[in-house]
Amino acid sequence: MYDVYEIRKHFPMLDGTKKMQGEDLVFLDNASTTFKPYEVIDAVNHYYKDITSNSHRGDYDLAYEVDVEIEKTRKTVARFINASSHKEVVFTAGTSMSINLIAYGYGLKFLTKDDEILITEAEHASNVLPWFRVSELTGCKINYIPLDETGHITPENLRKVISNKTKIVSVAHIGNVLGYINPIKELADITHEYGAVLCCDGAQSVPHIKTDVQELGIDFLSFSGHKMCGPTGIGVLWGKYELLQKMDPFMTGGGMNAKFDMCGDVAYLDAPSKFEAGTENIAGIIGLRAAVEFLESIGIENVANHEQNLRKYFMEQIKDIPDLKIYNPDGATGIITFNRIGVFAQDEATLLNSKGIAVRSGQHCAKILVDFLKDVATVRISTYLYTTKEELDKVIKELKDGGDILDVYFK
Ligand code: ALA
Repeated sequence: MYDVYEIRKHFPMLDGTKKMQGEDLVFLDNASTTFKPYEVIDAVNHYYKDITSNSHRGDYDLAYEVDVEIEKTRKTVARFINASSHKEVVFTAGTSMSINLIAYGYGLKFLTKDDEILITEAEHASNVLPWFRVSELTGCKINYIPLDETGHITPENLRKVISNKTKIVSVAHIGNVLGYINPIKELADITHEYGAVLCCDGAQSVPHIKTDVQELGIDFLSFSGHKMCGPTGIGVLWGKYELLQKMDPFMTGGGMNAKFDMCGDVAYLDAPSKFEAGTENIAGIIGLRAAVEFLESIGIENVANHEQNLRKYFMEQIKDIPDLKIYNPDGATGIITFNRIGVFAQDEATLLNSKGIAVRSGQHCAKILVDFLKDVATVRISTYLYTTKEELDKVIKELKDGGDILDVYFK
């Protein structure tokens, strides 16, 4: 039995004392970042308070303890995404860095001007701009898998554009604006028919739905700790080991080399160490393990169900509100994107802010998608494992009462 009120007790941000504009805080911007449970905060503090030392360098007990913590986290993450080996888990600063690492380490090494990268119009900047850089530096082409009329990415549409020139297909498992669950397994199978690799942006999926990299048959997966109850500044790049081994490092420095000499001869360590130059975000890594264990204790399938139930409830409650345009009525996740016709998205968000409700408005970093949406800005609600129906009720009330936003401001 999923007890959201019990779950909320783990989060200091949900202790009932937090206010915004003098109102009880209702946080519905979880696609942007999430609150942290005490377990994560305590794990981060434990590193700073009890076991501070550097990693992978020291020959003393404290440093050994830190190394054990880091490698335990790698194994925990590997278990969470069903990687075949913990050596396939690279710690990065987050999704953006993970995708940049693929772009610079794989894209620059293996693509030429005759090659092509496929993305979609729905991608977040983190899954567009690194590929633009690869195109700029190698001359390769960027092409787009067309979205269908409802904004979905379909295997049929991938087949329309993929060719032997395609070397990389990079798509989000769940888009950050429309929140659709994309058919990644089918996309990966088609990608492999053409000998290309499938990079999956898991920023919005790994925190919310079961992600099994082997079942999905993908080649790379990128995700961030802070969107899944973990600390900021820590994320993961998972890659098939043979691909990681073939890739060049993105950053070089301490901790990633076996030896180097005056002539410039360098031997890098094997993956994943090859990609972890410099002192790592040790507190972040330890906090990430606590976050994964926290999610495992609830059950990621239960998180997904909870968000589905909230979505159904919200959609049912708002269905008769006039002048509300929902961009993803058939979405399957906790992301609901809308506009009140005639009201600019940022004004709507400002109104909700005045009631203590945090939502995101604008383009949500998916700047190409505006052409598809035919609206320059939207309002996005995004729920998480601690969101309650009562919180959604507050939004529903505002959407029902708000009417003409100017009336609201001046009454
Ligand atoms: N990627 C985050 C979002 O969609 C920042 O809000």
